[in-house]
Amino acid sequence: MMEDGLRIVGAGGLGREVAWVLETSGQKVECFLVEPSFAAGACAGLPVRDDLEAWASTRRAVLAVGDGQARMRLARDKLRECVFVSALHPASVIGARSRLGDGVMLLGPASITVDAEVGQHVLINPGCTIAHDSRIGDFASLGPGCHLAGGAIVEEGANLGTGVVVLPRRRVGAWATVGAGAVVTSDVPPGAVVVGVPARPLTKGDS
Ligand SMILES: CC(C)(COP(=O)(O)OP(=O)(O)OC[C@H]1O[C@@H](n2cnc3c(N)ncnc32)[C@H](O)[C@@H]1OP(=O)(O)O)[C@@H](O)C(=O)NCCC(=O)NCCS
Repeated sequence: MMEDGLRIVGAGGLGREVAWVLETSGQKVECFLVEPSFAAGACAGLPVRDDLEAWASTRRAVLAVGDGQARMRLARDKLRECVFVSALHPASVIGARSRLGDGVMLLGPASITVDAEVGQHVLINPGCTIAHDSRIGDFASLGPGCHLAGGAIVEEGANLGTGVVVLPRRRVGAWATVGAGAVVTSDVPPGAVVVGVPARPLTKGDS
């Protein structure tokens, strides 16, 4: 049986980045898929489909939706029957015994050294470095140029802004947000929003 091309769920900036990564690594992209409330049409030279038939028949896809909560909802509900494929830029490096879940997006040169674990639907932007024994939970997102030192832990859904550094063995709790440029020197509680060097809880109106 002839295998269909891949579908990319989401046609925003991340969707276009994922299309570029897949095409750069020699994979055929069939179309973008968007919720019916978004406009169908064309994007980056590919069709954009918003019809229920396309959603129902989608089997191989990359979930290129920037918001981690939305990625989780789609993976666990509307697309739970889907087989998810990873989009790994060919210039990225993955070291010995490191394991990646399904649907990981590695958007450009990034390096994961040895014995690291990356969960499902994790978004890793260009220029990230992930050192030995680090763990990244499902649906987490790392902005461009994040650096995880050895044994760092980023739990499910945590969102690290551009240029975040996590020191060795520090833990960023589930669904926490770490602001751009922050250095995580002590554990971040689940759901917290932290900024700065060293990273501290965000309190508005203080700066
Ligand atoms: C931390 C963050 C999530 C806060 O967003 P927000 O709640 O909308 O915050 P605001 O823009 O209202 O700013 C609130 C205050 O925090 C400060 N602040 C915001 N981001 C900050 C940061 N990264 N570091 C230090 N201070 C920051 C602001 O100066 C402001 O201070 P003030 O109230 O004293 O004026 C956001 O600023 C951020 O850093 N996001 C990362 C974006 C990114 O890199 N994405 C990568 C996509 S590829």
